[in-house]
This record gives sequence, structure tokens and C-alpha cells, in this order.
Amino acid sequence: MLLKRLSSVIFIHLILLCTFINALDSLSFNSSFTKEHLRSLSNETKSLFIHGWDSYMKYGFPFDEVRPITCEAYGPDYKNVENSVRNDAMGNISSTVLDNLDTLIIMKEYDQLEYVLSYLKENQVGLFDQNTIVQVFETTIRHLGGLLSAHIILTDLFKNKVKGYEGIRKIVENYDGFLLDMAYDLGLKLIPSYKTSTNIPVPRINLLKGLKSVPPSLQRDACTSGATTPILEFTLLSKLTGDYQFQYYTSLTWWKLWSSKSELNLLPMTIDPISNQWKDSITGIGASIDSFYEYAAKSSILFNDDSMWNVYTTSYKALLTHSAQGGLGSLIFPNININDGVVFSDWIDSLSAFWSGLQVLTGQLTDAIRTHVVYMKIWNTFESIPERWIFQHFDNKKKLKKKVFKADDSINLEWYPLRPEFIESTYYLYRATKDPMYLNIGERILHLLKTKYSAPCGLCGLQNIKNGIRQNRMETFVLGETLKYLYLLFDEENEVFLHQDFMKGKNWIFSTEAHPLWLDKNMDKLKDNKTIFIDSHDNVTISNKELISKPISSFYRNVSIVQPFYVDINNENVYKIDPFAERFNYCQLNPWQKSPNSFLESSYYRWNAFFSSDYSFKNSLIKPRYLPQTSLDGSTMELNRNFYDKFTMFDTDLICPRVATTLFYEVFWGDIKLINEVEVSEIVSNDTLMLSNDLWVPNLYGLRIVVEELVIDKVDSFNTVITEEYINSLQHQQESEIKFEKAVLRIKKINGVNLYSNQIVWTLPFEANNEEKSAIGITDDGRLIIQGKVVENLLVYYS
Ligand SMILES: *[C@@H]1O[C@H](CO)[C@@H](O)[C@H](O)[C@H]1NC(C)=O
Ligand SMILES: *[C@@H]1O[C@H](CO)[C@@H](O)[C@H](O)[C@H]1NC(C)=O
Ligand SMILES: *[C@@H]1O[C@H](CO)[C@@H](O)[C@H](O)[C@H]1NC(C)=O
Ligand SMILES: *[C@@H]1O[C@H](CO)[C@@H](O)[C@H](O)[C@H]1NC(C)=O
Ligand SMILES: *[C@@H]1O[C@H](CO)[C@@H](O)[C@H](O)[C@H]1NC(C)=O
Ligand SMILES: *[C@@H]1O[C@H](CO)[C@@H](O)[C@H](O)[C@H]1NC(C)=O
Ligand SMILES: *[C@@H]1O[C@H](CO)[C@@H](O)[C@H](O)[C@H]1NC(C)=O
Repeated sequence: MLLKRLSSVIFIHLILLCTFINALDSLSFNSSFTKEHLRSLSNETKSLFIHGWDSYMKYGFPFDEVRPITCEAYGPDYKNVENSVRNDAMGNISSTVLDNLDTLIIMKEYDQLEYVLSYLKENQVGLFDQNTIVQVFETTIRHLGGLLSAHIILTDLFKNKVKGYEGIRKIVENYDGFLLDMAYDLGLKLIPSYKTSTNIPVPRINLLKGLKSVPPSLQRDACTSGATTPILEFTLLSKLTGDYQFQYYTSLTWWKLWSSKSELNLLPMTIDPISNQWKDSITGIGASIDSFYEYAAKSSILFNDDSMWNVYTTSYKALLTHSAQGGLGSLIFPNININDGVVFSDWIDSLSAFWSGLQVLTGQLTDAIRTHVVYMKIWNTFESIPERWIFQHFDNKKKLKKKVFKADDSINLEWYPLRPEFIESTYYLYRATKDPMYLNIGERILHLLKTKYSAPCGLCGLQNIKNGIRQNRMETFVLGETLKYLYLLFDEENEVFLHQDFMKGKNWIFSTEAHPLWLDKNMDKLKDNKTIFIDSHDNVTISNKELISKPISSFYRNVSIVQPFYVDINNENVYKIDPFAERFNYCQLNPWQKSPNSFLESSYYRWNAFFSSDYSFKNSLIKPRYLPQTSLDGSTMELNRNFYDKFTMFDTDLICPRVATTLFYEVFWGDIKLINEVEVSEIVSNDTLMLSNDLWVPNLYGLRIVVEELVIDKVDSFNTVITEEYINSLQHQQESEIKFEKAVLRIKKINGVNLYSNQIVWTLPFEANNEEKSAIGITDDGRLIIQGKVVENLLVYYS
């Protein structure tokens, strides 16, 4: 039988020059990214930090925060303890200080550091005996993490002379470890929240009175991030102090929740610690679950823990399979149902902008670039990221056709408190690619921070992006994360200690609150302690039984994922690999960079899908009326004229394909829960028919497939106009009763694996049963037909 490969089909590439590149003219930026220029950018970033910090010290200290517009101290709402929006991260414990000890070290503000350290040392006794109800998660990541980070840096780092850090010697010599005592003190106040009968922590605790005085309304809904994330800081606290209970309790929670994942390997977002029940069946990557994935990956790095890596890769694979949308010009991960993977919401949230940073850290660079691009388009539109941004307008499709969209239509939650996540990811991407595009983004953000977001006593974000009304609050992460990541972005000369050689091999990570953390072997007091031991039956055993309020047999650590059943295709010469295993086994390189080491050359102009998200999301990327309506003033981040002239080496290759006008939809066969059992593998060696990079599936059941429908005269995702001849050429005669339609299907994604070009999916011959016969068939040349439409890139393998 003759099988014709698709590569023999000629795709006509009609190329359009992006007209708006030429339209950009006047510019207010003069970027060059020379050493001097970058130094002046980090100098300006530091000046902003000093402005915020000095304002806090003058008007806020020793309270938690300073209000940036009115220059007042700000702390917990004592009148209304249920005001959790305000109180969760405020304990009347000088929060801005605790969250910024390491920022002061990074910025080399030694006088300020010395001052607050001596204040903390004098006041440490009773500092945390505050009659305030705080959220355990926020207090752990901001304050406990801040204390641990500063302790580790001061203890481990400057034993030897470090160039550029001579000024810190005196502080290091006088440091006696009291920050760890403080962290331990705080940890002891927080850990009772984990000692529940269900081993699911209650989300809040009173720092002075414990669990007793917390109203039930503040204890019902815990989120997955909140319950699982403290495992990292708490495990580190156990290892540094030798008191294993922090690690023990948070591990019980972690593995208990993970073992209750859905059959699609997805965890929901809300749980009730009292009734021991999940409260929803929704998952995603943003608020309420974000740092669960982040800490699975980061714990695996920090503690060299393979089980944690398994949680991350399993989750990432599940999200690629069920949540990820797009792939060519952009990638977004909307919220979905954990049981069937159906999309639940038409928005993505501001917190999820961290995701591309995590993708970089875990080697998924191409995905990271495609994810980050979406948040960049949002920034370009709103000069901020709405807390929730509607990416697509689902309802009532017919009505929508006529609708004229406004900016407000795409803003679901309207505030922007200067969150760091987009800048954080920009920093990761710059370190991984060295593409000046990311410096350009940083410069644009810096400019906005200096102008629009500057306030008399610090920096303030927006209460309402729709009308530009400002917010009289500067949360501790503005100084501790937003400005920290921006400062680190501009550190091209590696002057900050984190970028220096002696950090190599430390397996350090940024906590989810941007605190650098690592664990030196000499600091680990639980090194040889088998206190928490998981045996080959997955039983958790511990040495101190009294601590347990529930029989331990109800917990198990089930990290093993069912392996696909591999079908023998009777061909010794064909080698297959798991496409997912491969993607986690090496770090990707910048996909569009010609020469990876050429600094000062952007690879973006070679990525011809760079502008495609402008079209995909055009109804959701409309500027509010109070902002300038064009980008002709150079206020855009992406490829403005000045940037283009300097960093593309005057290459005129920038081309944009036409927008695809084809429809995409999802097809599913069989029980969705079979997905984890069905084999999808990648061919690595050529045989007579299959070529390397082709995919292999033994059968069609348990496949979740995204298809593109190719119809005459439409432009497809490869920028080709579909012709009648092309469709006819695939419709080989066959005996079944199916009538051919004037359309062809192309598989774009199969169980989370994207197919980009010329790849074929191969499967074994099958017989359609009677019910299916009118819908499914095979053409004479071995292609699948679904309801009269031939599938372009799926072939049956007759060995
Ligand atoms: C850019 O350079 C021009 C001319 O040298 C100058 O007038 C302008 O102020 C500069 N813009 C910025 C943002 O520095
Ligand atoms: C920025 O640079 C100027 C000029 O070199 C210097 O006077 C100033 O102290 C620097 N600011 C910071 C925050 O380093
Ligand atoms: C909050 O902390 C400040 C400074 O440490 C202290 O003076 C004040 O009494 C505390 N407020 C309350 C209500 O405990
Ligand atoms: C291990 O932890 C237990 C419980 O805290 C403690 O009693 C024991 O001394 C520890 N062993 C070592 C070697 O640190
Ligand atoms: C460990 O688990 C196995 C199988 O689940 C069970 O049979 C055994 O009793 C458990 N052992 C202990 C010590 O709990
Ligand atoms: C772990 O998961 C596998 C597959 O879902 C299951 O067969 C096994 O029983 C689980 N182990 C425990 C201890 O529950
Ligand atoms: C398989 O064949 C293709 C096309 O003939 C070739 O480009 C590729 O390098 C081959 N791959 C291997 C692994 O031999």
C-alpha cells in the first residue's frame, strides 16, 4: 500500500510584512543596554527601593506597612477581625522589615540592615505575641521565609571575603543566629494550625492565643496553595533547628492532598479542614493553587527530593493535556474541572503570571516564552495586569458577533497592587535567554514605576484599572519582590551575590516570596534522622507517636503514576520514547536564537507567531479610555522602533503570517480517565514509513485531541490557503458508507503533546463497530475519516 507523506504536499507560504512595525516612529526611550545604561537602570530601581524603604522607616515603622499616598503607618484592623483582606498578611510584627531583610542585603543597604537587625534583636522576645489573626500561608512565606533567608545568608555566605560585599563583614561577625530563634518562635506559633484531626491545616491563627479565638468564619475554606506551600519553609525550619515537627505535619498534609488527586492527576483548589472535604472541583495555575506546583519543583531542588519532582512533572503533564490552550503564538492555562478537564472560566488571573518563571526553572523554555507573551500583551494594553483578565467572551456567540468590545469587558477583577509575578518571570526569561527584549520590558516597567506608580511615601498600585484610581497601600512584596526582581533583571554584570560563582552548586531557589533559600549540609540538623520515613509499602512511619492525632495508616505517599501499556509494533528497528519524559530530561535552549551567545541581538523578530496573540485576544486587549490609545509614543514593550533598530541587527526578516481563520475544536474518544493509561510515544528512529518525531498511539481510545478544521479558502495555522484540490487529494475512495465532506481535519495536539509541522500520528489498524461505522472509517491510503472529514496527519500502520 502506498502511503504518501504530508511533507510532499506543498504549503504555499504567503508572507505579509507587519505594517505596524513601520508605523512606529517617535519614541521616548533611548535604550541601548550598554553596561552604563544597565547600571543606571539598576541605580534607578534602587532609588525607588530607597524611596519606599525610607518612607516606611519614617512613617510606618515599627508597624507593618506605610500607606504610600497618605504617609501613615498601617497595620491590622483590630476593630474588624474578620477583615481578612487587610489582616491576613499583617500581624503588627513590622512586616515590611521581616519581608525585606534579604532585600537590604541584595541592595547593600548595610546601615539600614544594621539598624533593623539591632531593633529586632532587642525586641525579639514577645515580638510575635500579638493578638492578631493572621493567615498561616502569608505569614510563612513573607515573615518566616524572610527570617530564614536572612539567617542563611548571614550564616553561610560571607565566611570568606566576597568581592563587593566587604561592607557586610561587621554585621556577619556580630550575627549570633537570633533570626533563626525568631523563626523558630514564629514557627511554633503557626504549627498548631496543622495539628487538626484531619491533618488539613486551618488557614488562620491568632499569634497570641492560638486557634481558640479564631472565628469559625475564618477557618472553613482553606486553599490548596495555603495548605501545601508551607512545607518548604517548614521543612527548612525543621532541618535548621532539629525540631522535626514542622516537616512532619506539613508532609502529612502534602501527601494526603496529593493522594486525593483526581484521575486526571489534578488537584482542586478549595478544601474544608474541619469536614475533611474538597469544596470545589476546579483547578488551574493561578490563585489558590499556584505555589503548590511551584513548591513541588522548588522542594525537589532544595531538598533533592525525587518524589516532589514526580509531583511537578505529573502535574505539568496533566495541565498540558487538559488545560493548556494555544501553543504557536501563545499559551494560556485556564481553570478547568478536575474530573473531565472541561474549561471552567473565561479568565486568567494576575498571579498566574509567575508560571512562565517556573517553566523556565523546570526547563520548559519554549512554553515559558509562549506563556509570558500573553501577560506582556496585557501589560501593553493596561500598563498593569488586572487581577482577573477575561481572555475570551464565551457566552451567546451570536450576539457577540455584533458586539463592540470595550476595555471594561475584559476586566473581571479591576485592581493591580503592583504584584511582582510578571516581572519575576521576565527576570527568569532574561537569565535563560539573554534576549534584550526582556530588558526592554524591564525598562518600560521601571518607567511606569517612576511615574505613574510613584507616590509621596513609596509606590502605589491601582484600585481600579478601569479608571486609574489609585490604591493607598504598599504591600510588603512591592519592595521585597517587584523591585527586587527588577533590580536583579538589570544585573547583567553579576554584581549581586546571587549571580556570582560561589552560589553555583548550592541548589538555591527563590521562595514564592522572592527570598533566596538553600540548605548547606553543615546546617542540616536532621541529616541522618529517619524521623519521617516512607517504607516500600508507602507507609509513613515516624518515631514520636504521641504527636499524631490520627492513625497514620490513613496517609500514604502515592507518587507512582500508572505507566502506559506499551504495545509491541513488531518492528525491532523502531525506537520509541515517552515525549514527556524527554521534555523533562533536558533544558531547552532559546528556540529562536541563531547564535545562543550573541548578546544584544533579539531573537523575537524571528518568531513569526509573535504577533498572533494580538489577533487571538483582540477583543480582550482594548485600552481603557484614560490611557494613550496608540503605542506611537514608544510606550509599547515589544519591538518598538528604537528597539528594533538596535537589537535586530537591521535584519528585515520580520514577517507575520496571516491570522488563521480555521476553527479549532476538541475531539475525545472513550473514557477520559483512560488518558493516563494510553500510550502516546515519540518515534526516535526512522523505519520505512515512520520518521523520527512522528507520534505513535496504539489505538484511538483515551485520546484527547485538538483538531484544526481545514475548509476551502480559509487560512490555516501554517499560513496556507486551503484549496479544493488539496482536500480532494486526501479523499481516497473507500468502501464504507461515509460520505466525504468538503473539509479536512488536522491534529494539533494529542494528550498534551503538540504537533507542529509534518509530524504524523501513527496507529494500528482497527475495525469500527456497527454503531461507529457511519461516523468513523479509514481511507484506502490509511487515513482516518471522522464524520466525512479525512484526518490529514493520522495514518494507520500496517506492518
Ligand atoms: C532620548 O533622547 C532624546 C534626544 O537625545 C532626548 O530628548 C530624550 O529626552 C531622551 N529620552 C529619554 C527617555 O531619556
Ligand atoms: C545613582 O548614581 C548616582 C550618580 O552616579 C549616585 O550619585 C547615586 O548615589 C546612585 N544612586 C543609588 C541609589 O545608587
Ligand atoms: C502594635 O505594635 C506596636 C509596636 O510594636 C505596639 O506599640 C502596639 O501596642 C501594638 N498594637 C497592639 C494593638 O497591640
Ligand atoms: C531525630 O528526631 C527526634 C525527634 O525530634 C529526636 O529525638 C532525635 O534526637 C533526632 N535524632 C538526631 C540524630 O538528630
Ligand atoms: C504497610 O502497608 C502494607 C500494605 O499497605 C500493610 O499490609 C502493612 O501492614 C503496613 N505496615 C505497617 C507497619 O503499617
Ligand atoms: C497507589 O496508586 C496506585 C494506582 O492508582 C494504586 O494501585 C495503589 O493501590 C496506590 N497505593 C496505595 C498505597 O494506595
Ligand atoms: C529520519 O529521516 C529524516 C528524513 O529522511 C531525516 O531528516 C532524519 O535525520 C532521520 N532521522 C534519523 C534519526 O535517522
